[in-house]
Formats: sequence, C-alpha cells, structure tokens
Amino acid sequence: MCGIFAAVSETSVTSALVGGLRALSYRGYDSSGLVIAQHSGLQRRRAPGKLEALSSLLKEQPLEGFVGIAHTRWATHGAPSETNAHPHMTPKVAVVHNGIIENYSLLKADLESDGYRFNSETDSECIPLLITRNLDKGMTPEVALREAMAMLEGSFGIAVIFASESDTVYAARLGSPLVIGQGATGHFIASDAIAMASVARNLCMLEDGDVAKVRVNEMSITNNAGEVTHREMKALQVSEHDQGKQGYRHYMLKEIHQQPEVVRNTLNHYCDNASFTLKDEMFPANLERFDRLSIVACGTSYYAGMVARTWFEKYAAIPVEADVASEYRYRESPLSPNTLSLFISQSGETADTLAALRYTKEQGLSCISLLNVDTSTMAAESDSFLRTLAGAEIGVASTKAFTGQLMVLLLMALRMAKASGRLDIAAEKAAIKELFTLPVGLSNVIDQLASMKSIASSLVQSEHTLFLGRGTGFPLAQEGALKLKEISYIHAEAYPAGELKHGPIALIDEAMPVVLVAPPGPMMSKTLSNLREVAARGAKVILISNHEGIELASEHITHAIEMPDCDPVMMPVLYTLPLQLLAYHVAVLKGTDVDQPRNLAKSVTVE
Ligand code: AGP
Repeated sequence: MCGIFAAVSETSVTSALVGGLRALSYRGYDSSGLVIAQHSGLQRRRAPGKLEALSSLLKEQPLEGFVGIAHTRWATHGAPSETNAHPHMTPKVAVVHNGIIENYSLLKADLESDGYRFNSETDSECIPLLITRNLDKGMTPEVALREAMAMLEGSFGIAVIFASESDTVYAARLGSPLVIGQGATGHFIASDAIAMASVARNLCMLEDGDVAKVRVNEMSITNNAGEVTHREMKALQVSEHDQGKQGYRHYMLKEIHQQPEVVRNTLNHYCDNASFTLKDEMFPANLERFDRLSIVACGTSYYAGMVARTWFEKYAAIPVEADVASEYRYRESPLSPNTLSLFISQSGETADTLAALRYTKEQGLSCISLLNVDTSTMAAESDSFLRTLAGAEIGVASTKAFTGQLMVLLLMALRMAKASGRLDIAAEKAAIKELFTLPVGLSNVIDQLASMKSIASSLVQSEHTLFLGRGTGFPLAQEGALKLKEISYIHAEAYPAGELKHGPIALIDEAMPVVLVAPPGPMMSKTLSNLREVAARGAKVILISNHEGIELASEHITHAIEMPDCDPVMMPVLYTLPLQLLAYHVAVLKGTDVDQPRNLAKSVTVE
C-alpha cells in the first residue's frame, strides 16, 4: 500500500526520492508527492495517478534540495486526488504517513476548534496540524513531534521535516514498518527495504515507539520511553533487491519463470542434498508436542495453507484448521495450548494476518510464521519464523512466493511426520530425493506451456468463469481464479467440484467457461464426471490433467492442458503453473496492467 521514502544527503535528493518511490510503486498506489526543504521554506509537488505524472510535474516545476520526504498513496480516507496526496503540510512542517489514524475525527474536531484548517479529506493531515499546534505553543520540533505522536491512535510510520530544522529528517514508527539506510552520500528512510537497494548498503529497522533524528552524517534514535537507543545496522540482503525485469515483459512473467530456482533454493535450504534428508535444525523445535495446527493467512498465502492442510493431515496425521485472517481474529474460536499457530505471509506486513498473530500471542499460544521478508514486522513478532526463499516479489499477483510457501509447508509436514514417528528414514529419503527432481519438472512444464496464448484467447471475451477442483485441486482452483480476477478483471469463481450440483450448475451455459483442475488420483474420475455435466450444458471446458484424464474426457473438452505424470506430492506445485500462465496471458491479451492491477496493493497494511 502507501510507500514512504525520505532522504538527507550531500547531493540533491530529488532523483533519489523519485527513484525510491519508483522502487516502492509495486506496492500499489494512486497518487504521489514530495516535499523538499529549501532556504525559502518547505516546497511541495504532488500529482494524482502514476509516478510519471509527478516526474512530468517536476520537469515543469523543478525542485532541488538536500533534504526531502516523498510518498506514494493508496487511497483510504478520501479520493486519489492531488489534494489528498501526501505530503501534508503547514508552512512549518511536512509529513508523509503510512497507516491509519483511528481517532482522527476527534483530533480533527479538536484542531478545528483551535482554528487549524484541514485542506484534505485524509486522516493523515491531522499529524502536521497537531505538530504545528505544538510548535505554535513554543515546543521544539522533536518535542512537538513526540507530543503529537502521543495523541495518535492507530498505526503509523511517518517521515517529517521542519522548516526550522532544514538539515534533518525525523522518522517515527508505531505499527507501520520503517527502515533507515546508510549510504555513501547520507541517510535514507523507507517503508520497505527494497527501496534502499540503489542508495544504501546497511540498514536498521525502527521498532514501535522509536523516533529517529537523521542527518547526513549522524543518526540518533530514541525509544518509546524517550531513551537514546541503538538499533543494529545490518547489510542489505540480496533478496531485498529488485533486480529488474531481466528481459521479461512483466515482473509476473519473470517471477513465474523463477519458480524452478525458488524450489531448488528451498530444497537446498531445508534439506541435505547429499543424504536426501531434512535439515531438522531448520524447523522449529519440539514439533511433536503439538496435536493441532492452525493456519492463518490471506489471499494466495491462505490458499497455500489450504493445499498444505491436506499434507499435514495425510503425512503428519495432525488435524488442521485453516482460516482467512480477517475472519479468524473475530471468530473467538477456543484455542488449545497444544495448538501450533502458523501464519503465512509473503510480505510479513498484512494487517489482518499481523493482528491475528498478535491476538494468538495474547492467548499464550506458540506462533510461528512463514515469511518472504526477513525484516518484516511479523518476523520480529513471531516466536520463530520459517523463510520462503522466493526473493523480492514485485508483481502484485503472487506467483513464486506461493510456490515457495507450498515447498516449505510440504517440508514442514514431512518434518512433523518425522517428529511424530510417522515418517521413517527410508520414506524420508525417498520423498526428498523425488522432490529434488521438481525444479527440472517445473522448467519442463514452463517450456511446454509456451503456447498457452491460444487457450488464453478463448477467455478474453468472457465476463465470468468457473474454476473447479477436488482435494488439493480445489485450493489450486481458488488460486487460479484469484489470479485471473486480479489481473484480467474477469469474474472468476472457484468451487469444489463436488458442490457443483448444489447450486453453481445453475450458472452454466455457453457463456460460462469452466476451468477444471483434475490431476490423476482417486478423485480424477469424479472430477471428470463433473466435467461431463458442465459440458452437457454448453460450457466450454479447459481441462488441466494428465494424458489419461484428457483421453477420458476428450470429446467434452474445448481446450486441454496436458501435464506430465508425477509423484502426487509434487502435483500441487506443478499444477500451479498452467493456472498462473493462463491468467497472465489473458491479462496480456486484454491489455491490463499486469504487474500493478487496478485497486490492488502488494502489501495490504490496513484492515
Ligand atoms: C495474491 O496474488 C494477492 N495479491 C493477495 O491475495 C496476497 O496473497 C494477500 O494480500 C496476502 O499477502 P501476504 O502474503 O503478503 O500476507
């Protein structure tokens, strides 16, 4: 969602600010802006729409200086207009804000009664106005900021510059992440480490309650209690770099093609490739003491959890509940102390998943997370976390992170099976050895699916689609439907194929294409029966199955995507590829913004 980038440097910061915003743009935004401190005072430029609009404005009305703050805004309070774009400011102070100020109506009424006027519809504007009121009372900038923070309820990450202290940027955090980077020319502040790659080598994370005072050559941090504190500087990780599209037309396509490498990296991280055994020490200790698993996540991460439910139940014989985080938090489900709670998130910042984690911790339960960003808030707040090794995922539609999640979850299911004595050493070796063949299998499937475009063209004119599957095929159908709707804007609904006759079959006619996920196995023939039922009612059917499945249903299929035979354990990872590529090619044919689809944010940091 919103992105913050700020800089205080020996050289002019304008291009670093725009570059920082560009690096953050993958998170989703609908307006942008910056303020630069000049001798004449604080100067602002803002523009609705894409960053190009801000860049054009800066060409027409250039702005240079050595200290500045910048922001990409994803609208929550108020439309995506120039007036609502950040920074918000008075002549004395300018602020960029990520998060939500929950008590802003009260603060607004209070400020207005004192004669302070709001120019925007945003909750964020109360921050510069509160600070200004404190400055007007004679407080120093730092005290004015601290006193204002004490009045804010909700969550925030903010960067602040003062007209009276034009060599300094302040950064403060309560809930929304902020990192500070140290570079050759000065210091940089960002809401996401990925924006630091081109300017800084080392970075530190602010903790909740921290206020950092940052100048070119110095930085000091005070904690919640106002005491001077130290936050460890760490080298920027390669996984935090956005390495560009590397010749691919879109990040999403690049990330689909990176999946064999992600799987290989995951296997090498969690398994010994000489003995084909799990590296037990890479997983949380004492897994055998849990008799239940609760998986909580949102979106694609939730579907990874749904696929994994089958694995945990099958291999480790451990009952699993999987919940979407926004529901779990308020469900007040009784939690037993022998339940292991597992939170899955690519970003580690998703507001609902984070809140669910905090809720579960308050109940005294063990919380582990599966995350793709080591520096995320969930990484800091979980009892321990497992890494997905997907590297920076830039496309809003999650692809390689999903595959990475599936792999770690599968290995964790095997680890739990081993811990409970259900997986002997011979079975462990056989399973891991088989899994090491998966990267090559994935590459082969990606090559085979190069001709996917013609199948995709059959969906381009559709307004609706239905995705069906059984077993792990159902969450894969859900993930395929999510991919299609988020990047092509075609309505896609996923159903367990067995539920077809309980309602959705009423939707079937010639205008309702059906995508069927029917891998070989005990449920294939039942799924193919459902295929015949929809075909008999005029639906065009795209079947994803193996050679046998396609032969069995050949007369009822409009398009077939033939998958290789494989060990059932690897099936969900392989069958993900055609679903991702189908959505991708439909979106490309429709001409949508594949990497930054409308209304979506990569990291959903508000509820
Ligand atoms: C996936 O394509 C989506 N953009 C979205 O559903 C995403 O998976 C969800 O917001 C959860 O994000 P997280 O994994 O970062 O928590």
